[in-house]
Amino acid sequence: MKGIKFIGTGSYLPEKTISNDDLSKIMDTNDEWIRQRTGIGQRRMAIEEGCVDLATKAAISALENAKLKPEDIDVLIVATCTPDNYCPSVACMVQEKLLAVNAVAFDISAACTGFIFALKTAESLLKSSEYKNALVIGSEVMTKLINFENRNTAVLFGDGAGAAVISKNDFENGIKDIYIKTDGSGAGLITMPALGSIKDANFEDKEFTYVSDNTRDIFMEGREVFKFATTIMVSMVKDILEKHNLDISDIKYVVPHQANIRIIDYAAKKLKVSSDVFYTNMEEYANTSAASIPIALHEMNAKGLLSKGDNIILLGFGGGLTFGSALITW
Ligand code: ACO
Repeated sequence: MKGIKFIGTGSYLPEKTISNDDLSKIMDTNDEWIRQRTGIGQRRMAIEEGCVDLATKAAISALENAKLKPEDIDVLIVATCTPDNYCPSVACMVQEKLLAVNAVAFDISAACTGFIFALKTAESLLKSSEYKNALVIGSEVMTKLINFENRNTAVLFGDGAGAAVISKNDFENGIKDIYIKTDGSGAGLITMPALGSIKDANFEDKEFTYVSDNTRDIFMEGREVFKFATTIMVSMVKDILEKHNLDISDIKYVVPHQANIRIIDYAAKKLKVSSDVFYTNMEEYANTSAASIPIALHEMNAKGLLSKGDNIILLGFGGGLTFGSALITW
């Protein structure tokens, strides 16, 4: 039977590092508060690069790892909530830069769950058509959307991109299941108004003089999101284990969206498993939204932490609200 598996991973993190101490020079915050409440120690910041640049570099790294050429790619999906343009999509521009001439390319917007949504879409396209190889990328330049006067969210996010190549063949191991879901009733809990959105449509007089009110910011009801994230992480792990008749002890690693160490510790406690089962790197990169899971996956792959036959669970949750999980046998 044809299976679909990961044949390569990659990532790219911009060079510039911003420590918590750096942030404390421009806003009323400090390293101790940020570390204790979030587990974040620093983040990367794209200065002269955009979402497309980060995505392209992560894609090149994943293609090298998969030993494929750009023209081998049939499907190219970028998950992002910080695209450089409304049009063209990030994916179209990455296709052009890579010369992935045979790929159908498009973006997906599902906030921090974007990579899982993109993975599900890519897997479905491979399953349902003649397509063989898909390049799935999560790329974010969150710091370009941050309002550095809002300490509530400015300390949480960083920039980066991760990518994976999945392929259809006579594989026994691979993607066993992917689950995605949305709950629009929580849409107001995490918001990033689009520049030029209805909020900006601010015409002051009959001559239609346009007045911009610069809505660039990330808003979050932190405590509500905390409750949502912990609840949904625990239930998604339990559900996927039950569905596949597995126990948590059968899982080598859970690779969660890297939002906050306290969310992860809480979920581990509820699942009665050591926090070490949850792979984390938010101390170095902070929350890179849709990029966090593929960055973590590539880091694990590069460190040799993943062996053939290992069961891993990917766990995403984020604005929308969106959430999703994937069970993979490596
Ligand atoms: N530095 C210092 N003090 C701060 C900062 C900061 N950066 N931000 C807030 N504070 C202050 C507040 O003003 C408040 O002060 P007060 O008591 O004098 O009013 C105090 O710290 C506590 O603020 P809370 O917002 O209640 O802090 P809380 O303990 O809830 O922690 C946090 C905030 C870390 C955001 C928490 O709610 C959380 O982890 N939420 C989960 C959401 C998350 O991680 N989202 C990631 C992005 S969304 C996603 O990826 C799905």
